[in-house]
Amino acid sequence: MKIVKSIAEMKKISHKIHSSSLKIGFVPTMGFLHEGHLSLIKIAKKMSERTVVSIFVNPTQFGPNEDYYQYPRDIKRDKELLKKEGVHYIFYPSEEEMYPEGFLTTVKVKKLSEILCGASRPVHFEGVTTVVLKLFNIINPDIAVFGEKDYQQLVIIKKMVMDLNLDISIVSGEIIREQDGIAMSSRNTYLSKEERKQATCLYRSLLIARDWIMAGERNTSIIISRMKEFIKTFPSTKIDYIEIVDPETLNPLKRIKGSARILLAVWIGKTRLIDNLQVNV
Ligand code: PAJ
Repeated sequence: MKIVKSIAEMKKISHKIHSSSLKIGFVPTMGFLHEGHLSLIKIAKKMSERTVVSIFVNPTQFGPNEDYYQYPRDIKRDKELLKKEGVHYIFYPSEEEMYPEGFLTTVKVKKLSEILCGASRPVHFEGVTTVVLKLFNIINPDIAVFGEKDYQQLVIIKKMVMDLNLDISIVSGEIIREQDGIAMSSRNTYLSKEERKQATCLYRSLLIARDWIMAGERNTSIIISRMKEFIKTFPSTKIDYIEIVDPETLNPLKRIKGSARILLAVWIGKTRLIDNLQVNV
């Protein structure tokens, strides 16, 4: 496993891999890896001959009052985990390498970046698409794997790839959860013991919603208010949003027919957590 810090070297490596007609599978991450990340790496490994994982805590996707400086980092542990997975290259650039002085360009997927998480995190998705496009240009992957955990991010990346005619297949991996149902996330480390218990309310509210839908309820505002009522019984919570949307367009649905995605963001104390679930009727 090789650790590559320079963009020029990463480009050279990618060129060499392609000139031997091998496929590159890429998994972008911000590090502090857990089983969720590793599940995406397993998918990339199956679908390509050479795997590249990037580790870069991208400053431009954090708002001014967000957790960029607190975001957990442990490169030593990440390297060990990636070595065990049989990853070929870690792309681990510095902030100056990715955003040298005078950097001016961004890419934004309009509308989709402004709803749901984008409504409370106005610069977030523009930061994500800009860094992901840069990483795509540096690594030039054949496939790139993203988790359904960040469902809106996945939809936005797919849209960018389609709109900008990129020759990259975007593959998705399902949400990996802890035993009590909470979606694995680097941000779970912020939670106190008591908050960690309360954080199970996100997934539990999704299961309650699914049960109501399976019992025949189709009116999304009724389902959403039941989810809200349930979450409000947990004292450390503050709901950011709960929405039931079309899985492809992310347009809110009034009634459920066919498939729908239930998405929510909830503050547990000072930590904002997200989760989502697909339902098919
Ligand atoms: P990060 O939060 O590190 O996540 C990297 C990838 O892992 C994303 O595709 C995310 O959806 C996926 N992931 C996280 N938790 C998961 C879980 N429990 N199950 C399955 N997949 C999970 O997402 C980012 O980084 C950044 O925005 C990035 C795309 C790297 C751009 O900076």
